[in-house]
Amino acid sequence: MKEESKSAFGMIGLGTMGSNLLLNIVDQGYSCSGYDISPQKVVTLNELNPEAIHGFTDLKEFVMSLSSPRIVMMLVPAGAIVDSVIEELLAVLDKGDIIIDGGNSHFIDTDRRFKYLEEKGYHFIGMGVSGGESGARNGPSMMPGGDKQAYEAIKPILTKIAAKVNGEPTVAYMGERSAGHFVKMVHNGIEYALMQLISETYEVLKHGLELTDEEIYEVYKTWNDGRLQSYLLEITRDIFAFKEDGSKHLLLNDIKDEAKAKGTGKWTSQAAMDLNLPVPIIDISVSMRDLSKYKDLRTKGAELYPNPKAEPYSDDNAKYIASMEEAFYFAMVSAYAQGMHLLYRANEDYKYDLDLGVIAKIWRGGCIIRSAFLEDIYAAYKKNPELEHIFLDEDIHQSVVNSIPGIRTFVSDVAKHGIAAPAFCVSLSYFDNFRNKEMPANLIQAQRDFFGSHTYELKGKTGVFHTDWEEDPKVNTEADS
Ligand code: 6PG
Repeated sequence: MKEESKSAFGMIGLGTMGSNLLLNIVDQGYSCSGYDISPQKVVTLNELNPEAIHGFTDLKEFVMSLSSPRIVMMLVPAGAIVDSVIEELLAVLDKGDIIIDGGNSHFIDTDRRFKYLEEKGYHFIGMGVSGGESGARNGPSMMPGGDKQAYEAIKPILTKIAAKVNGEPTVAYMGERSAGHFVKMVHNGIEYALMQLISETYEVLKHGLELTDEEIYEVYKTWNDGRLQSYLLEITRDIFAFKEDGSKHLLLNDIKDEAKAKGTGKWTSQAAMDLNLPVPIIDISVSMRDLSKYKDLRTKGAELYPNPKAEPYSDDNAKYIASMEEAFYFAMVSAYAQGMHLLYRANEDYKYDLDLGVIAKIWRGGCIIRSAFLEDIYAAYKKNPELEHIFLDEDIHQSVVNSIPGIRTFVSDVAKHGIAAPAFCVSLSYFDNFRNKEMPANLIQAQRDFFGSHTYELKGKTGVFHTDWEEDPKVNTEADS
């Protein structure tokens, strides 16, 4: 095969995401090759655009069809498959070729693979890709990290296929090693939190205010037409209008109340705990998906602890829904704030060289958590690139203050009526401690020292101290730190 007739880009894994991304790249004038072990997927790919896309079931033939240095992207399930595909590739690629892992790989795996491939002379990019199947086809948001030189080589293609916001592509180099996959993981953590919050509003609209599906549709439509505009609210609105052909009721009402998860939300919580950085709204969102799976247990619980009939939820639904909008705004800000804070902290520990403003910028389009509010976050980092926490930005501060009455009303009402809205409750408690100069953690220190001689620190003194709490006379002594 002559070099000039070879493909500019190769994709391993021809599921819907992989083939949609190839079609997107072809639209931008590049020729592409695709590889999959499934002959059927290769046949389907070849039928899509026989002029510009060439499918293979033989890895060597696939690699030989690519121009050098070769650009090979993997879109395969995270985990051991990624390692085995890399091993197979090493047998057929040349040093200097570029391997991109576009799946939702765990960042620790990406670190390991980056080091391994660098030592062998291959360029490796760990890249988060967000936007689902339609994002892949029409413009995703992409978070590449790792080999900077390799990024420069693939940048022209990525820039063209990315979604555009005000003419700017939603892709940028994130930083060193596993930075791209870390950022994508946190994106998904925020995604879990926003989805949980929306599902909690559904619970209140349905079981608190007792709205019909049509009325719930109108609420999400109104919210999405305002400052809460987001992709997730937009699809929620549409779910409340979706009936299967010939059906009189929503498909939603036939779907089991047991949520699945592939794991990126859990990884976000685990990574945050490893860094001692609180993201409770993400933690609770992961936990509630887990609790949803205990259907039998919840059914027994429902019988044992029925909700006593409380007074009507509200005497003015329209007014209440307006106040719920404030509550949702507050909790949504908290979800983004906690996620961005995690990125801030990870950047310090892992030395990724992240630019939080650039991350907010490329999340404004193409990805699942895109929303109008990301413009405000982007603006906050533009004003202050070193911003530690977005609650500290003066414009966001003002909007948060304005939405406090709404969140307090909402949280106290769900508690009073026995309706679970834990992500809302957590967002408020997180905030109330965020602004708490004197947390009750002194008591925890005292308890730890009492039962385990774990020592405590004293106000205005250096060093650590220990007290024999049950001894008489009571003394505190300086302890070895
Ligand atoms: C995206 C999505 C995508 C995937 C989710 C699903 O950004 O396009 O986040 O990566 O659909 O990870 O995750 P769960 O199965 O864990 O909900």
